[in-house]
Amino acid sequence: MSAVRIAWIGCGTHANEMLLPQLMRHDVTIAALCDADGDRLARTAARFGVPPENTTQDWRAILNRGDVDALGLAIGPQGHFDIGMAAIERRLPVFMEKPPAPTAAQAEQLAAAAKRQDVPVVVGFMKRYSTANRIASNILRAPDFGERASFLGQYMTAPTYFAKDPDYSGFYLHHCVHYFDLVPSLMGDVASVSARRHEMAPGKLLLHVDFRFTSGGIGTLVVGTHQSRGTPMEWWQVMGDHRRVEVRNVHEVRYYRAPPFKVSDRDATLADGVDTLVWEPNLTAAANEDHKGYHALLGDFTRAIRESVDVPTIADGARAMRLLEEAIGGTAEEVR
Ligand SMILES: NC(=O)c1ccc[n+]([C@@H]2O[C@H](COP(=O)([O-])OP(=O)(O)OC[C@H]3O[C@@H](n4cnc5c(N)ncnc54)[C@H](O)[C@@H]3O)[C@@H](O)[C@H]2O)c1
Repeated sequence: MSAVRIAWIGCGTHANEMLLPQLMRHDVTIAALCDADGDRLARTAARFGVPPENTTQDWRAILNRGDVDALGLAIGPQGHFDIGMAAIERRLPVFMEKPPAPTAAQAEQLAAAAKRQDVPVVVGFMKRYSTANRIASNILRAPDFGERASFLGQYMTAPTYFAKDPDYSGFYLHHCVHYFDLVPSLMGDVASVSARRHEMAPGKLLLHVDFRFTSGGIGTLVVGTHQSRGTPMEWWQVMGDHRRVEVRNVHEVRYYRAPPFKVSDRDATLADGVDTLVWEPNLTAAANEDHKGYHALLGDFTRAIRESVDVPTIADGARAMRLLEEAIGGTAEEVR
């Protein structure tokens, strides 16, 4: 099968450092490249071997090309919405980074358009794809795990980005949105969501988010802007009946089950099917180091262009945005 011909818009930090390097490891060619900023465009084109004649600062020129199979977007909420809508109207498959739009209503517009046009639109929720999260999620979905009774987790960041952004829109849209996808993807549909809020100082916000799932399960997510990014930022746990799965820092998985006490057992051992399983990657192996999940997600995107694949869709993006707005409730106007 021939390489997928991708048009890419947005040559910022994230595209250069994470997305394009991982995308290029798949069977793709960058057929066209665009950024409104001429310097960034030229630097990125040189880096990824795109000839100048295939670059433009005008995204409409990209959409008017008839020779691409799919479009990648790493711009920001408004660009994802505007360009995403235009691409969907042309039935061009799209990968768009999160957040898919500035508001849930606009994300829903994208989802409705994608459905009407029957075109795949994949959202950059790579947390579903991190190796540890995938392992844990597969354990949770296996029949012997049983009921997923509770979720507890934290996803923090630092005040650096928000000190000049006291409405916290960047925090909500660019950071929190990830977990408003990950939590329902692990626990199932959400019946209700709300949040308690504590602002320690301008730029230092803490939210305790309360989930009730349609399964009857419950969840608490702590997100905040008051921890150092020099420390691990993420931890989560799902409990079932006499078992629980924990993921620390998207690379360590622990699966606790129901072992007996060992202390007075002379024959104590570690028993299959009972004792705790732990997984960590070997970070010294010169091998695929996709532990954050970008490579796997972009690989699924290249497949979703040609076949049906279970990916984070724009409908999932709209759900995440809706839950986010619901959680922050009375402060919804801040999500802009
Ligand atoms: N999944 C993740 O973990 C993750 C991590 C970082 C960033 N992101 C997302 O990726 C997106 C981009 O983030 P970034 O840090 O690279 O931002 P950035 O500001 O560095 O890059 C955005 C680029 O888009 C270009 N641009 C803006 N409007 C444009 C337009 N109309 N036409 C053409 N180009 C345009 C800008 O010139 C800029 O080069 C954001 O939505 C962000 O949330 C996701």
